[in-house]
Amino acid sequence: MDSKMFALVAGALVASVRVCAVAAEENVVTVHTDDVVCEASDDLWGLFLEDVNLSIDGGIYAEMVRNRSFEDGNGAIRQLTLEYWNTIGNAEYLLSEKQGAHLNDLHCVTVRGRAGSGLVNEGYFGMGVKEGESYNLSVALRGDFAFADVSLEAYGKPVVAKARIDGITSEWKTFNVSFVAQDTDPRCCLAFRFYPSDTRDNTIHEVQMDHVSLFPANAVCGLFRRDLIERLSALHPSFMRFPGGCWVEGDEMRLAYRWKKTIGDKWNRRTQWNRWKYWATNGVGFHEYLLLCEVIGAKPLYCINCGMSHSDNVPLEKMDEFVQDALDCIEYANGPTDSKWGAVRAAAGHPEPFNLEYLEIGNENGGPDYEARYPLIAKAVRTKYPEIKLVFNRWASTEDISDGPRDLRDDHFYNSADIFMSRHAHDYDEKKGDFGIFVGEYAVTTGAGRYGNLRAAIGEAAVMLGFERNQNQVKLAAYAPLFANAQHTVWTPNLIYPTTDGCFVNPSWNVQRLFSANRGVQVLKLEVATSTFRTKSPKKKGGGFDKNNIEKVQGSAVRAANGDVIVKLVNCSEEKQPVMIKGVSGNAVKTVFTGPNREAHNLPGEPELVKETTSSMVLDGQDVLPPLSLVVYRVPTVSR
Ligand code: AHR
Repeated sequence: MDSKMFALVAGALVASVRVCAVAAEENVVTVHTDDVVCEASDDLWGLFLEDVNLSIDGGIYAEMVRNRSFEDGNGAIRQLTLEYWNTIGNAEYLLSEKQGAHLNDLHCVTVRGRAGSGLVNEGYFGMGVKEGESYNLSVALRGDFAFADVSLEAYGKPVVAKARIDGITSEWKTFNVSFVAQDTDPRCCLAFRFYPSDTRDNTIHEVQMDHVSLFPANAVCGLFRRDLIERLSALHPSFMRFPGGCWVEGDEMRLAYRWKKTIGDKWNRRTQWNRWKYWATNGVGFHEYLLLCEVIGAKPLYCINCGMSHSDNVPLEKMDEFVQDALDCIEYANGPTDSKWGAVRAAAGHPEPFNLEYLEIGNENGGPDYEARYPLIAKAVRTKYPEIKLVFNRWASTEDISDGPRDLRDDHFYNSADIFMSRHAHDYDEKKGDFGIFVGEYAVTTGAGRYGNLRAAIGEAAVMLGFERNQNQVKLAAYAPLFANAQHTVWTPNLIYPTTDGCFVNPSWNVQRLFSANRGVQVLKLEVATSTFRTKSPKKKGGGFDKNNIEKVQGSAVRAANGDVIVKLVNCSEEKQPVMIKGVSGNAVKTVFTGPNREAHNLPGEPELVKETTSSMVLDGQDVLPPLSLVVYRVPTVSR
């Protein structure tokens, strides 16, 4: 190397060292491993499963037939139209009232036509069928056709699976058939073609059909989609709040969620119009929600209607029924098998208790009407079941309710990534009251697109650091909502998107996973010396700067049950940030979550764009955080 070249290289090295040293001074992270701020909450990270966006029917519930009992209407009005079914051949159909029918099972369909006439169901935007897998069909039939050919087929393609149902008579009979698919197709339909015993007979015949159901044989507990259960289990949720949300309240009291109408024989459950624009079967009823919690290892957190809907309230003198509903749901979940509701649970196949621990009274309810109703339920529950933790709402008010026992307050916020990174990240730095906080719903919704994106996920990560640092009061938190059928995204974004042939996730899913997989038992003191930046507000003309001061680097530290120190850092800026980490060093496992740009998100059938990568490293002070990233350092040996 000649002297000129040497001078140039040396100069460049000095410059890069200087840049690094100066920049690292900006982001100094000090972990105080001997300074325990508080014990961690046992149940910090959980789920919120609302019946929204076809999250249950068309989502986690593995039922493939839509409008399976011919009770759906066209829109909110229950009227006699044949939704999600089409005719085959020259068939005519008639939706008929069933004689002696149960209150919730009023209709069946009558199909009339010549040999080969029938009906076809399109499922939830098609039925995804996989080669080699089995599917279990059941259907109730009666009539003067003698048999039916049943098939899974996609329009214009060869039949994927077929079976014959023989022995149709004038009496209702339920037939059970199992198919094995010979091919894979995400867009199949379920077709029924009916024939008289003599297939040359060209006269008109008819058949009545009801209770049509098709489940993949691999459904978990015969109920839940296996791929979605895997996505939930991977989050190791401590609890699951269900079933809403606004779904609990209903737009009107008559449509509010009432758990007693969702148990027992699935064909006798109330089918009802869901305010998120579809008919709900309640096939996943109160019992199945509890079962789902058990399957994924989450404590149930039931949110019960408190006698208030979006437009009307139950008069105070009629609240006894709602108080009783609350007491009875606890007995159903936890009571002995010789209690009234414990016996109903046992008869449904679950003699062991479900261990309901949390009961939320109302969703997003507030004001004087809530003040009057909450204590009626809360006092009765506390008296009979003092062990149940009671969750209250504060909604459209700056005051907390003043009467009735309460353990946790449910806070909800949806906002932009800027507001998450600046304001909500510090929401719980100050103590709020003599109760714990349950952040029951939160998500970056503004600027997050239909499927979420990297910057939204990083905004949520910043807020989750705040929850983690403040576990002296934040006891539980759940992203919202959990699922949206990818074809029915009325509320956006959501955490997981089921499709007919699988599912894909919002980048926020990885953030949830990383926090849950890296929990602590103690919160450690952490100081971050960093600078702030201001963002351009999309709301201001000319994109001027708004008032958000966002700390570039934010963090939290915990000690895990096995003694590991876990440091989580978020780079909220769109430039890489050098950091100087003090107080903890040595061999570490480092996981970096980031993506190619702020809008990056995943799409169905495409490789994940926003990812986690894990590697081993030696933590010796300096490191660099990629733009818009969450970085988790797990350090087994603590040295100072
Ligand atoms: O999560 C979607 C909706 O947001 C919930 O139904 C409601 O509680 C909140 O307003």
